[in-house]
Amino acid sequence: MNQKQPILETKDLELEFSGVKAADGMNVQVYENEFLAVIGPNGSGKTTLLNLCTGYLRPTAGSIHLDGRDITGLMPRAITRLGVARAFQIPQLFSSHRVIDNIMLALAAHDGLWTMVRPLETAARREQAEELLRLVGLFDDRNHISRALPEGHRKLLDVAVALALKPRLLLLDEPTSGVSALERFPLMEALMKALRQQQITALFVEHDMDVVARYANRVLVCSAGSIMVSGSPGEVFKDERVLQNVVGVA
Ligand SMILES: Nc1ncnc2c1ncn2[C@@H]1O[C@H](COP(=O)(O)OP(=O)(O)OP(=O)(O)O)[C@@H](O)[C@H]1O
Ligand SMILES: [Mg+2]
Repeated sequence: MNQKQPILETKDLELEFSGVKAADGMNVQVYENEFLAVIGPNGSGKTTLLNLCTGYLRPTAGSIHLDGRDITGLMPRAITRLGVARAFQIPQLFSSHRVIDNIMLALAAHDGLWTMVRPLETAARREQAEELLRLVGLFDDRNHISRALPEGHRKLLDVAVALALKPRLLLLDEPTSGVSALERFPLMEALMKALRQQQITALFVEHDMDVVARYANRVLVCSAGSIMVSGSPGEVFKDERVLQNVVGVA
């Protein structure tokens, strides 16, 4: 797998927040069709990595490459247009709107037809939205108000909103955080099924080591703003540094 050019590559990324190096020589490669986990203690730079790769933050040094093209410093919207979407630690939803409206809004934004004069709901858009909701297993929730959904379903809705942007690469920040232990595996199954069906590569930040061991094909271990260890879940969970600094404290 590793002989190919990565879809996404960061080279020596650095970012400092008032004396704290949130990224300190962050080097990451993401290859096609990977489901790549990023783990690490609180404050080790995982969310910062996602923010840098999606243009929400600018590195003070280093570069970011998508299919070999330098995208450092591009605006988030430009990066999304190049096929990188993002799901959030806390779902970014229109909570008082119906589930299906959230998807139709995302589809409208992607179409670029988001103006006051055009109706949001068209037959074609409704159909596409229903298709996406079926894909993540939320079709039966389509007319519910988003706020009323259990957290696991809100996370999946946030994923479906990201999928409406038709990404090749999806970056997920803690897809299972705030989700009850019972809901976690079903959520991950629904997520994996959707990604496989759409052939989307994904990188996900995760604190639940059972989820990482079960679903990731490769794991990056973040520590103090850089990648300390990378390998298969089996390799990484045997590493003494990981056992002491991450697994023990997660
Ligand atoms: N906007 C910001 N302003 C100032 N400091 C920040 C900002 N964002 C992150 N930091 C700091 O940068 C470091 C890395 O934070 P980051 O959010 O990337 O960690 P994380 O690995 O995602 O942690 P968690 O597991 O708690 O989500 C931390 O020390 C954090 O306090
Ligand atoms: Mg974080």
